[in-house]
Amino acid sequence: MSIQSLASAVLKDTHSTGGTAFPASKLQAPAYIKHARLIEWVASIAALTQPDRIEWSDGSEAEYNRLCAAMVEAGTLKKLNEAKRPNSYLAWSDPSDVARVEDRTYICSAKKEDAGPTNNWVAPAEMRGTLNGLFAGCMRGRTMYVIPFSMGPLGSPIAQIGVELSDSPYVVVNMKMMTRMGRAVYDVLGSDGEFVPCVHTVGKPLAAGEQDVAWPCNPTKYIVHYPETREIWSFGSGYGGNALLGKKCFALRIASTMGRQDVSKNGLGWLAEHMLILGVTSPAGKKYHVAAAFPSACGKTNFAMLIPPAAMAENGKGWQVSTVGDDIAWIKPGADGRLYAINPEAGYFGVAPGTNEQTNFNCMASLNANAIFTNVALTDDGDVWWEGMGPAPAHLIDWQGQDWTPEAGKAGRKAAHPNARFTVSATQNPVLDSEWDNPAGVPIDAFIFGGRRSTTVPLVTEARNWVEGVYMAATMGSETTAAAAGQQGVVRRDPFAMIPFCGYNMSDYFNHWLQLGAQLQKQGAKMPGIYCVNWFRTDENGKFVWPGFGENMRVLKWMLERIEGQAQGVEHVFGVSPRYEDITWSGLDFPASSYAKITSIDAGAWKEEFKLHAELFDKLAYHLPEELKQVKAGLEARLAA
Ligand code: GTP
Ligand code: SPV
Ligand code: MN
Repeated sequence: MSIQSLASAVLKDTHSTGGTAFPASKLQAPAYIKHARLIEWVASIAALTQPDRIEWSDGSEAEYNRLCAAMVEAGTLKKLNEAKRPNSYLAWSDPSDVARVEDRTYICSAKKEDAGPTNNWVAPAEMRGTLNGLFAGCMRGRTMYVIPFSMGPLGSPIAQIGVELSDSPYVVVNMKMMTRMGRAVYDVLGSDGEFVPCVHTVGKPLAAGEQDVAWPCNPTKYIVHYPETREIWSFGSGYGGNALLGKKCFALRIASTMGRQDVSKNGLGWLAEHMLILGVTSPAGKKYHVAAAFPSACGKTNFAMLIPPAAMAENGKGWQVSTVGDDIAWIKPGADGRLYAINPEAGYFGVAPGTNEQTNFNCMASLNANAIFTNVALTDDGDVWWEGMGPAPAHLIDWQGQDWTPEAGKAGRKAAHPNARFTVSATQNPVLDSEWDNPAGVPIDAFIFGGRRSTTVPLVTEARNWVEGVYMAATMGSETTAAAAGQQGVVRRDPFAMIPFCGYNMSDYFNHWLQLGAQLQKQGAKMPGIYCVNWFRTDENGKFVWPGFGENMRVLKWMLERIEGQAQGVEHVFGVSPRYEDITWSGLDFPASSYAKITSIDAGAWKEEFKLHAELFDKLAYHLPEELKQVKAGLEARLAA
């Protein structure tokens, strides 16, 4: 049985008993949809969730405008000042629904070991029972939207199709920008194409005549993945990755399991990663591509759009960075043995606070028009503001709808929620890479892994080989951010920046990386370099020492020169790092004493760090690759020597 027929059998089995059949007269599937199984599935979910009506989204401009206007009417969106921010909107969510909910996110594989110790797990049958109860009648009084989307260029052999059923019009308009969404998807699907069924509800049915709220949601939340049948079920949240199911749920959690299963097809499989992809062109005109994994709210969007310092130009020619993607990469081995990456998304759902014309000019330019802002502050002239955008206006309405003044700010009240975000199409980006939409992807020259660490981890280190690079990525730590609900600023291990996003056992994931590397090396492929970075070391006053943002180009340049065999460095316990004189400093006054502060390797701190690696490895003991244990022993021996 194919995964698709398995999924529909499971759906039929679990839903035929529950609800009243959905009247065929209200289904009204458009004639252009030729996919009987899809229509049957929509009917079965409608029978379960009992929406008042169904709307088949076509992804058109007209639909987008109509839904935005309806949401303005309903109070979900505010239209921003057309003169200042054309065709743009602001949404304020419920204060209880502002970020991903990792403790409510589940990987319901048949076997617990396959979800592994880093994922929440409940047996599929038990979870289906729970969700059937919650989803029964959950869309009463609402419209169920049928949202067809493609992750990756429409019709390309690497793209994957999903259909999200959601009772949130906010989800529809966001999915339009974040994915290739709309009617053309049905042409690709034909009468029997495979798609990932995604069911989403805000979990707030309306009784007859009940007045809706601006941001409906439910205190009970479930973000559930069934990897075997490739289904996604999301209940209770309307925010970001909880609700835009093409993003983390599909393009990372489900896609990571797909990439590993596909090993059986060609012995290699592929990778779904929490990585930005950028193009970088040297003054001599040579183009490279880099994929970088940083945890949520740790600088992927900024790095992907960075503007190299003008003073780094050579013979009047500067470095240039262009964006392929800012959050997710699907990476596949090409016929030449190199790794090729595509960005499965079509837009950016980025962190607003901290973004300004100095830190990320290109991002600010992307947001000049045609954007949706969520949980930022509203200015008196109908524009948006957030912390770190620039000087605060004398008066604002904060993200919770309250008056806000700079005095309130000084007292610690934020005008924008720290996880406030913007949604915008990739095509708004002035430095969008010419190959961003190329189904063949771009060849990766280097992988970068970086966490948010105020101590211990040096600015940049090159791994000596693939296995040591995998070890670096696997043991990465980072201070938690506002991107997820829960405590902030505590260091946790975040292997490959994938801890909230890996759809299967993390040790099996390490193995997949190691096997892929070993296979490619066996073929004699030129392997990408692996680097570990940390932009976030602080001084005795808690201030970042490294200027970061555009200046990160200096570090990137060193990496690319290493790949060319041109740059020097010094080998230490974990790998190779640049000395002060190995970095290009033109145009930046950054003294050697400061450089020492962010590159020093403190043996005592690293002894403690290895204890944390040991804790992680204890937790991941089941299937933990032997190679990683050997690397650890080797590094510890070097440190002790
Ligand atoms: P997700 O979309 O959550 O996956 O995150 P992201 O990695 O794309 O995060 P983003 O680039 O939006 O990071 C936002 C935060 O990182 C803001 O607080 C920025 O100020 C900060 N940031 C980004 N780059 C740098 C840097 O080079 N140095 C420092 N100190 N902060 C940075
Ligand atoms: C992240 O948290 O890593 C994001 C935002 O990219 S969300 O889509 O909400 O997951
Ligand atoms: Mn992300």
